[in-house]
Amino acid sequence: MMADPSSRKVAVVTGGARGIGRGCADALARAGYDIALVDVLVPEMQRTAGEIRAVGRDCLTLEADVSLYQRAHEVVAEVHKTFGHIDVLLNNAGRSMPKGILEITEAEFDSTIAVDLKSCFNYIQAVAPVMLAQGGGRIVSMSSLNAHSGGVTAAVSRFAYAAAKAGILGMTRALAKELGPTILINAICPGLIETELAKNPVIVNRGAEIARDGIALHRVGRPADIAQLVVFLATSEPCFITGQDFVVDGFQYNM
Ligand SMILES: NC(=O)c1ccc[n+]([C@@H]2O[C@H](COP(=O)([O-])OP(=O)(O)OC[C@H]3O[C@@H](n4cnc5c(N)ncnc54)[C@H](O)[C@@H]3O)[C@@H](O)[C@H]2O)c1
Repeated sequence: MMADPSSRKVAVVTGGARGIGRGCADALARAGYDIALVDVLVPEMQRTAGEIRAVGRDCLTLEADVSLYQRAHEVVAEVHKTFGHIDVLLNNAGRSMPKGILEITEAEFDSTIAVDLKSCFNYIQAVAPVMLAQGGGRIVSMSSLNAHSGGVTAAVSRFAYAAAKAGILGMTRALAKELGPTILINAICPGLIETELAKNPVIVNRGAEIARDGIALHRVGRPADIAQLVVFLATSEPCFITGQDFVVDGFQYNM
């Protein structure tokens, strides 16, 4: 049986099928949120949905490519119709782009910007009217340490990804002013986190060495390290934090 719409808490998590998004969806469910997962990986999304239902929360799964504008508006309308409320949007879906400036094609550059940056515009524009009408809401977007560091040449993700992720920071600051005081919006910049996205030969083969020589906390991150901050930014009351970005990387100083 569906709960009273005004009493339930609902979070939309893009890229929630696996990795950081899966960890955040699980943590938000444990914090009492019903979850709408948005992803292109249907079997993985069903697995995550099963985990959320196992902790007693409702879970809606929506197959969608986050780079598609019209689809984002359809997805948000469906979530709103189903749950009657949207309290949290986590813009987490993203994809790496390891090619450098001399190798990348125009289409690859455009699609990196579409998946890693425009996706945030798509979902924020769709969700903002709902949150403004409700009188509150929280948005968290997943940027990257690369937005600050530019990555390194052996990185999984190079300049196009760094540009898209830095774009999220500008969008976050500007929208905090535009959508405040009703909606709080922040960004997280993870360092190296153990997920599919971070699997590249350099990291897989030299993981222990990288952690020992280049990370103050001597380990790479886990999705739970990011989920902890997502839950704080989504739930903390009162909250005087908006328009900010938070680096969560164990102090990665040598990459
Ligand atoms: N893993 C890291 O080291 C790291 C570091 C910094 C930032 N990030 C960012 O964190 C976020 C999550 O990354 P992850 O490491 O969990 O990666 P991941 O590849 O394990 O998971 C990403 C999820 O996003 C989904 N996704 C990708 N493109 C999509 C699209 N167009 N439409 C819908 N869903 C899509 C994937 O299917 C997948 O479920 C990304 O935005 C990534 O850029 C990751």
